[in-house]
Amino acid sequence: MDLTFLAHARILIVDDQASNLALLARLLASRGYGRASGTTDPREALRRLTAELPDLLVLDLHMPGVDGFEVLEHVRALTPPGEFFPILVITGDRDPAVRERALLLGARDFVSKPFNSIEILLRIHNLLETRFLQRQLTTHNRELETLVRLRTQELEESRLEILERLALASEYRDDDTGEHTRRVGAWSARIAHAMALGPAQVELIERAAPLHDVGKIGLPDAVLLKPGRVSADEFAIIKTHTTIGARILSGSQVPLLQLAEEIARSHHERYDGDGYPDHLAGDDIPLAGRIVAVADAYDAMTHERPYRTALSPDDALAAIDAQRGRQFDPDVSQTFFRLLERRRRVRQSA
Ligand SMILES: [Fe+2]
Repeated sequence: MDLTFLAHARILIVDDQASNLALLARLLASRGYGRASGTTDPREALRRLTAELPDLLVLDLHMPGVDGFEVLEHVRALTPPGEFFPILVITGDRDPAVRERALLLGARDFVSKPFNSIEILLRIHNLLETRFLQRQLTTHNRELETLVRLRTQELEESRLEILERLALASEYRDDDTGEHTRRVGAWSARIAHAMALGPAQVELIERAAPLHDVGKIGLPDAVLLKPGRVSADEFAIIKTHTTIGARILSGSQVPLLQLAEEIARSHHERYDGDGYPDHLAGDDIPLAGRIVAVADAYDAMTHERPYRTALSPDDALAAIDAQRGRQFDPDVSQTFFRLLERRRRVRQSA
């Protein structure tokens, strides 16, 4: 172990006998302890300890005015919990009860008066070594904790990135910009927020909603990319993107993926029960699915696709309004309506 720390160790000696103090200070200086200082006045000691705790306190127990026990109590109140603060008590008192009381108050070791030079140096050295080793360990632990936090964050970010890319992969097949999935996430989050869902839930919806059409990966090109109208059989195949998506995302312990599975399966359910794949109605449809249904429909209507032109925001909103309580949850569509109104007002006043 590197022992240079001894030269930098701050040692405070508190002893009302000036001769004892001087003797110990000289002894420590001669052994390379460059920062040892002392006082014969316990009140001065309390002031110095309050200002800054040294690395080691050498303390006489029996002093007039403030005795060593009061100093011990004072130091105990100042020591951060869990920190090893070494206190070496020097006493002529051999009464075990006195030593026990000092121990209970935080003394770490004893030296009897008159002290033996070799013994006291050894005890001081050992206590300081323990002090510095504990410091090193604490610093090391803190560094490790920071590293673990960073790695966890990296892992979380890479997990989210993979999910974004999975959403992109599903969208790439019929919209190579991938912007639709992102916009559906953003709209869903705005609606969720406007419906007073908590910030954690809003963020989950924002990240899970882009995966709503991940099941398109499993659809044949001949159906998915077919221009013009699709037959009833082909539409039956298109409908399976909900169950395929749910299967791709199923069985996860991660709340984000569990929500994504729920959304993938339920985003084509209708409020009146005429949707697919489970013909759920009303509040039986998971809320996230009802939210994404509105966000998905609005975004699809307001953006041009190869097979149809884009509607204006007003026309798209009117189309959603016309389906309030039929295709769409009335609360969700009303929230969306108000949300867009508010955004429009803000834009106009800007
Ligand atoms: Fe879909």
